Amino acid sequence: MTELGSAVKANPSLALQAEIDALAPWFHNMELNGIWTAPDHFLYDYPGRKFRKFAHTIPADLSGRTVLDIGCNAGFYAIEMQRRGAAQVVGIDSDERYLSQARLAARVQGMDRIEFRNMSVYDVGALGQRFDIVIFMGVMYHLRHPLLALDLIREHVADDMLVFQSMQRGSPDLMALEGDYSFEETGIFDQPGFPRMSFVEREYAHDWTNWWVPNRACTEAMLRSAGFRIDQHPETEVYICRAVETPYAETALPAVYPARNPKQKTKP
Ligand SMILES: C[S@@+](CC[C@H](N)C(=O)[O-])C[C@H]1O[C@@H](n2cnc3c(N)ncnc32)[C@H](O)[C@@H]1O
Repeated sequence: MTELGSAVKANPSLALQAEIDALAPWFHNMELNGIWTAPDHFLYDYPGRKFRKFAHTIPADLSGRTVLDIGCNAGFYAIEMQRRGAAQVVGIDSDERYLSQARLAARVQGMDRIEFRNMSVYDVGALGQRFDIVIFMGVMYHLRHPLLALDLIREHVADDMLVFQSMQRGSPDLMALEGDYSFEETGIFDQPGFPRMSFVEREYAHDWTNWWVPNRACTEAMLRSAGFRIDQHPETEVYICRAVETPYAETALPAVYPARNPKQKTKP
């Protein structure tokens, strides 16, 4: 046996450390058998610290429930849902390295029933299944087509609860809006509480995958527009929603992909 082999046998945490290091860098800083996956994380205990602010809004006992975690990254939320006894947990992400992190994190924590799949949010229709809880945290602002993603989630996979989070910038104000305005009304667009989304052409926070950053009013309006009623807002960026009828179901089909037969009725 090599010197390294003997050292690993004598101290298994060396082997785990090596596995964690091989999959670095990690965005989810989780403690796996006493080893932090991202000890230099700029938000330190993340997402644990974030989750503690809204953990109470998700049922503590998820027996019999199904959960889909979209953009699951290293699996923090998927693992927490299995810890709560969910009957089925599926985590999808478009980045294979993050999925490998998730599989390692789940294995080390004994959460071995979670199915991690390489899949984009734009392809959720291919899952062919609706879920009691859909988690869509920290992904929307990374997308070039954010409203399409919300429409697809509503159309294909969200059956009841949506746990949503987005980075937000700009005013936290909300304003009461009329159903319609005349063409001559232009001032409203300058109001801080009007729904507004900023497009990032180059990079924001040294991350070229940040494309669209909504203000609070825009986040909430997009959720409603896609057919999600906001039930709770336990943390600045986090929304607990319910899937409801899409507001424009009678007048227009949502811009979903793959395109539907226009004669096909929108699901309630
Ligand atoms: C900021 S992380 C958020 C991770 C986790 N949901 C959370 O809240 O901690 C964004 C994640 O979304 C994933 N992602 C980006 N675009 C995606 C897409 N089109 N479909 C699925 N996942 C995507 C990234 O690979 C990354 O893991």
